[in-house]
Amino acid sequence: MEFNINNICCIGAGFVGGPTMAVIADNCPGIQINVVDINTERIKRWNDEDLSKLPIYEKGLESIIKKCRGKNLHFSNKIEENLKVADMIFISVNTPTKIKGLGAGKASDLKWIEASTRQIAKNAKDNVIVVEKSTLPVRTADTVKKILNSQSEKNSRINYKRNFYVLSNPEFLAEGTAIENLQNPDRVLIGGDNEEAINALRKIYKKWIDNKKILQTNLWSSELSKLTANAFLAQRISSINSLTALCESTGADIKEVVMAIGMDTRIGSRFLEPGPGFGGSCFKKDILNLIYICDYYGLKEVSSYWQKVLELNSWQKSRISNLIVDKLFGTLSGKKICILGFAFKANTNDTRESPAIDICNSLLEEGANLSIYDPRVSLKQIAKDLNEDNTIDAKIGLDTGKWTYEESIFSAANEADAIVILTEWNEFKNMDWKKISIIMRRPSWVFDTRLISDLEDNNLFGINIWKIGYGI
Ligand code: NAD
Ligand code: UDX
Repeated sequence: MEFNINNICCIGAGFVGGPTMAVIADNCPGIQINVVDINTERIKRWNDEDLSKLPIYEKGLESIIKKCRGKNLHFSNKIEENLKVADMIFISVNTPTKIKGLGAGKASDLKWIEASTRQIAKNAKDNVIVVEKSTLPVRTADTVKKILNSQSEKNSRINYKRNFYVLSNPEFLAEGTAIENLQNPDRVLIGGDNEEAINALRKIYKKWIDNKKILQTNLWSSELSKLTANAFLAQRISSINSLTALCESTGADIKEVVMAIGMDTRIGSRFLEPGPGFGGSCFKKDILNLIYICDYYGLKEVSSYWQKVLELNSWQKSRISNLIVDKLFGTLSGKKICILGFAFKANTNDTRESPAIDICNSLLEEGANLSIYDPRVSLKQIAKDLNEDNTIDAKIGLDTGKWTYEESIFSAANEADAIVILTEWNEFKNMDWKKISIIMRRPSWVFDTRLISDLEDNNLFGINIWKIGYGI
């Protein structure tokens, strides 16, 4: 069966669906691409004339949207209509951790996958290639196939029998560098059992990616590789974070340790940056999913191995908030703490699973008054993350502290007892410490959890500095 792909439909216009389809559209002007979503507000923003209103901020995205939107890239809520004409359908919907029912807290919630698969089964034409772009538990393609085929059989009685070809094509982009990662990926992974369908997808990627980088595996290896890649990356971060504590106790220098191990080509230097713990929408969710699958297959030792990666991550966050309390004489009640950075990493406004959330909540519980500044995260988002309404200065509980949203480093640091750097934004790298030391209360503290501050010497301008992996 030879496939001719002239029309693509992508279900899900989120962090993955939007940028991925934009890059395909840019590289394949001959293919019409419809990105569809049930969320009308999101689609409205994708179609906004003012490109600064796009629902996602990614470097390079605006210029692609400007070039392709309305030509071969379209965003809409017309799901059925666009599914009916598609030769290839990507499923790029959310797969968060289940919050209730069987497997709650660990398993992936596949209700959005099932809903989209049913929509495809109902509307798609014959010989359509269905591509799993979402991150999924290993063997989900089985479920997808069953749903598609059962509808197909039902139709065959009424109408005609249709064939579907299911592929797994997980996405490895990281937020903040999505366009760069999509334009020049380390590899593209295609899992499947039909050679022609795989080649049809390969042909699309080959428009801009070297064929050698396009790997072909069976469906299950592809699904599992995505979970594994995220688990390995997170494991490196937990490993290096565990050593920050040991360096602080022994006097070993964390940067020197990172340099020494990173130069071993078997280890490599990336993803060894110490920090307050990993955040983001994927690492925790995907490791929880891996743990659930291991438990399901009775592999207790394997699941508890991965569980430790998550435990270490939680420990790193609580260890940071505890030591802040400790350094500030055991109490934060009535003290002002300036929080610099709320996003889970720099160059994004995304706060999902940001370590800032847990650290801020712990400090608030200790009675601290937080002044929070992040160059891209909105007041509304912080209020949502800290379980607050939208009012500045609102109390979060009787015995707890309160927080304010600040528009600059200086207003946040004014009269503060301590500054806690939680996100590695560029503007936190070189700050006017002399000026800041004048506006802070004494004794003044800086807690640098990202090792980015240029405040090298302890007590320079009268500021005590604590750095992750160094302590004081
Ligand atoms: P997201 O929440 O930003 O977007 C998902 C979109 O799907 C939402 O806009 C939602 O309204 C839409 N949707 C859900 N059900 C639908 C339906 N039945 N019909 C139409 N639209 C529907 O999620 P995301 O961050 O883009 O992640 C999507 C998948 O990609 C997840 O499985 C995630 O694990 C994976 N992934 C995410 C990243 C990342 O950095 N965010 C990276 C790699 C892989
Ligand atoms: C991650 C994966 O990198 C990507 O391949 C996958 O598709 C989605 O999940 P993302 O969550 O966007 O991407 O960001 P990433 O750059 O991986 O950072 C995740 C978290 O780890 C952030 O909180 C970041 O600050 C932290 N991190 C990263 C470290 O603490 N140290 C590091 O060395 C690297």
